[in-house]
Amino acid sequence: MAKYYITTPIYYVNDHPHLGHMYTTVAADVLARYQRLQGDDVFFLTGVDEHGQKVQEAAEKKGLKPIELADAVVERYQQLWPKLSISHTDFIRTSEDRHKQVVQTLWKQLEQKGAIYKGVYEDWYCVPCETYWTQTQLEENDCCPDCHRAVQKVKEESYFFRLSDYQQPLLDYINENLDFIAPVSRRNEVISFIESGLRDLSISRTTFSWGVPVPGDEKHVIYVWIDALSNYLSALGYPDADNMDFWPASVHLVGKDILRFHAIYWPCILMAAGLPLPKRVFAHGWWTVDGKKMSKSLGNALQPDDLLKNWEGDVLRYFLLREVPFGSDGDFSESALKMRYNSELANDIGNLLNRSLSMLQKYKGGILGKVTSHELDVELCQHMDKMPVSVQQAMQGQAFHQALEAINSLVRHGNRYVEQSAPWKLAKEDHIERLDTVLYHLIDLLRLTAFYLSPFMPNKAEAMMAQIMNTHVELQTFNLAEHGHRGNLTAGHECGKPHPLFPRMI
Ligand code: MSP
Repeated sequence: MAKYYITTPIYYVNDHPHLGHMYTTVAADVLARYQRLQGDDVFFLTGVDEHGQKVQEAAEKKGLKPIELADAVVERYQQLWPKLSISHTDFIRTSEDRHKQVVQTLWKQLEQKGAIYKGVYEDWYCVPCETYWTQTQLEENDCCPDCHRAVQKVKEESYFFRLSDYQQPLLDYINENLDFIAPVSRRNEVISFIESGLRDLSISRTTFSWGVPVPGDEKHVIYVWIDALSNYLSALGYPDADNMDFWPASVHLVGKDILRFHAIYWPCILMAAGLPLPKRVFAHGWWTVDGKKMSKSLGNALQPDDLLKNWEGDVLRYFLLREVPFGSDGDFSESALKMRYNSELANDIGNLLNRSLSMLQKYKGGILGKVTSHELDVELCQHMDKMPVSVQQAMQGQAFHQALEAINSLVRHGNRYVEQSAPWKLAKEDHIERLDTVLYHLIDLLRLTAFYLSPFMPNKAEAMMAQIMNTHVELQTFNLAEHGHRGNLTAGHECGKPHPLFPRMI
């Protein structure tokens, strides 16, 4: 069984989950579910990033200990994920002992390899971004080039990681492994950043205490990004637990804002520790609301629980991955969501399911007949054969919107096929062989649709399959190689009665 390891970023606990956090997690879940259908042994990791000055300050403002703030936010995440059918294998918290031990082990290994030294750090620090900047990187008014807020001057004793030693090895690696960073535009950005010169990285702080202490020099706290990135190893029980079979990660899904940490710092740390690099890092785009970045200060961050009041989790999952190509930015609006729902889910998929099962009930008592070969069906059959191949290609490149488009296109063909073959006429004129053939193809097409939609809308797909198979089917236990192709139903099978899955929204 192939091992497949997929991760989301671990989310900061100084903020409640919002649409942006939901996006990465849903995308990772879709991929995890798809790989399980491929027969892979999947480890899907998500969790929270609890340390750092930002969390310490947010907790102080609320009169809480950092761990109390973290506990409260963790609970929100843990309540949210089931509502969105997130099927993670593990949820890591960086305050857990299993994590802290791994961070310190990794530190000691880097130290032994000579990749860490002590020096004096003098630079500009942006607290909200937890990022250090050189004078030349600052904006003209001396503000942070990412968030445009004021930065602080810092000068302190610090440990450094010899990042500059890995500039050429990393460039070579990126050029030899074209799939490593995606999409291509982001890969190019990373390359030019590296080519502009990598400076050694300050990796400890003495200005706050909420973090993992440097082994043997406890007044220093390990830089939050080393702490955070190590979660991908600590969840596997690094260095020697059985789950290390899952390393290197198949894919780290991240937002574009944190690509540099994943595509530059992390691979260099891994190289220094003598560990293989992740196979892929994919950076997705950002959701805006009314064209504006979501933020606490604007008060426009969309809360998952508010959205879930109006929309089922499956529908939100579908929309997030259908509306915007993964990798691009997108603007969120409920009117766009409603439009997609009504046209693609209610009108196309829901309608095809309903009319096909109704006709099968009406004309054949719900019982499937035999297929008799007919040249009128060649085109439809070709589409049914093509869809799984297109979905596979799209999923390999994390092009979720293309996978959904391939499924939708087959459904549109199905609806056209109903019009062209007019089963009501065939029934009236007693063309039973032809009627059996047409109804079989339609039900088979719907079965395929349910299979391939199931990573995106696990509950809707299961409900769809339950109507087709007349019994509950645990879709995640199926294998696409065995069941994910045309002609898998047997004549004589009795389908269930239709129940509307996607009622129109007015
Ligand atoms: N804690 C770090 C990640 C450490 S990973 C070793 C972090 N946390 S975060 O909570 O601020 O962000 C987590 C993810 O949410 C990032 O991938 C970020 O891109 C994503 N999003 C936050 N807002 C977003 C949108 N508005 N739209 C899409 N995703 C965005 O960074």
